[in-house]
Amino acid sequence: MVSEVLLFSYALLLGAVGIQIKDLRVPSVVRNNSGSAALLDCDYTLKPEELAAHSYAGLVVKWYFNSSPSPVYQWIPGQKPQDLGILKGKLDLKHRSSDHGATMYRALYIRNPTTELSGEYKCLVSTFDDEDFMTKKMVVFAPEKSLEFTTSKPAIDSVNLTCRARGVYPEPKMALFKDPDRMIVDDVQVETLSRQRSYDIVATKLMPDDDLDTPTVFACELRIPEASYEVTKSVVYYPGMFNQPNDSGDLRCHSHFWASLVTSLLIAYGCCC
Ligand SMILES: *[C@@H]1O[C@H](CO)[C@@H](O)[C@H](O)[C@H]1NC(C)=O
Ligand SMILES: *[C@@H]1O[C@H](CO)[C@@H](O)[C@H](O)[C@H]1NC(C)=O
Ligand SMILES: *[C@@H]1O[C@H](CO)[C@@H](O)[C@H](O)[C@H]1NC(C)=O
Repeated sequence: MVSEVLLFSYALLLGAVGIQIKDLRVPSVVRNNSGSAALLDCDYTLKPEELAAHSYAGLVVKWYFNSSPSPVYQWIPGQKPQDLGILKGKLDLKHRSSDHGATMYRALYIRNPTTELSGEYKCLVSTFDDEDFMTKKMVVFAPEKSLEFTTSKPAIDSVNLTCRARGVYPEPKMALFKDPDRMIVDDVQVETLSRQRSYDIVATKLMPDDDLDTPTVFACELRIPEASYEVTKSVVYYPGMFNQPNDSGDLRCHSHFWASLVTSLLIAYGCCC
C-alpha cells in the first residue's frame, strides 16, 4: 500500500500521465465471408519519456474476446505477435499499425471475419506500473441464404401468407405489411429457429379476403437489428381467385356469395365441385 502511494507520487512528480488508450477503432458491422479484412486498432500513448528513451519496460498489448479470461492476441515489443484461441490462424500478423517499436503490432488484422467472430473485443495495454483497457463490439452478420414469400389458399375466401428466411445471423426479425400505404399486418405468427450458427425465421398470417383490394400487394420485411440490415420481398394477391401465380393451397368449394362466380371459374378451368 505504502509503496503504491510512493510510486504514484513519483509518477506525479515526473508529470507522467501513464499509458492511455486514446481510441479503440473496431468496425461495428461486417459482412460474413465478404473476402475483406477487418482492422481492429488499439491506439494508445505512452509517457513521453518512455517513448523518447525507447524503454517500453513491461509493455504488453493483449486482446480479449467476449468473457474469455485468456487472450486471443498478445504482443510484447521486441517479440513476435501471437494469435491465440479463436483468432489462431485468422490474422495477418505482419500488419503494422505504425513504424514505432512501441506500437507497431497493436492492432488485430482479421483476414476474412466470419460470424463466430461476432462479439466484444477488449484491448488491454499494460506496463509495470500502469494499465488501460477499452472494449467494443463487432457484429459479423450473414444475410439470408434464401427468402421466400408465398400465398396459399386454405379456403376460397381467405389467404395464407407465408414468409420464410433461412441461414441468417445474428437473430433476425420479420414483419408483414400491406402496400401501398405500408400498413403493418397485425397478429402475425413469427417463429424463429436457432440452428448451429444461424437462424431460420418464418412468419405466417391467415387473412380473410373480405377487406382486401384487388389486387393486394403484400410485403415481407426481414431485418437484422444488430446489423441495421433489412430486405423486403413482395407478392401480389388476387382475392377470390384460385389460381394465384403460385398457388399450392388445398382448394375447396364453399357455399358463399362468391360461389356462382367460383363455379363458373371452375367450369372455365374444366373442373367441377
Ligand atoms: C459465414 O461464412 C462461412 C465461410 O464461408 C460459412 O461457412 C458460414 O456458413 C457462413 N455463415 C452463415 C451464417 O451464413
Ligand atoms: C399456412 O401455410 C404454411 C406453409 O405453407 C403452413 O405451414 C401453415 O400451416 C399454413 N397455415 C394455415 C393456418 O393454413
Ligand atoms: C411455385 O413455387 C415453388 C417453390 O416455392 C416452385 O417449385 C414451383 O415451381 C412454383 N410453381 C409455379 C407454377 O411457379
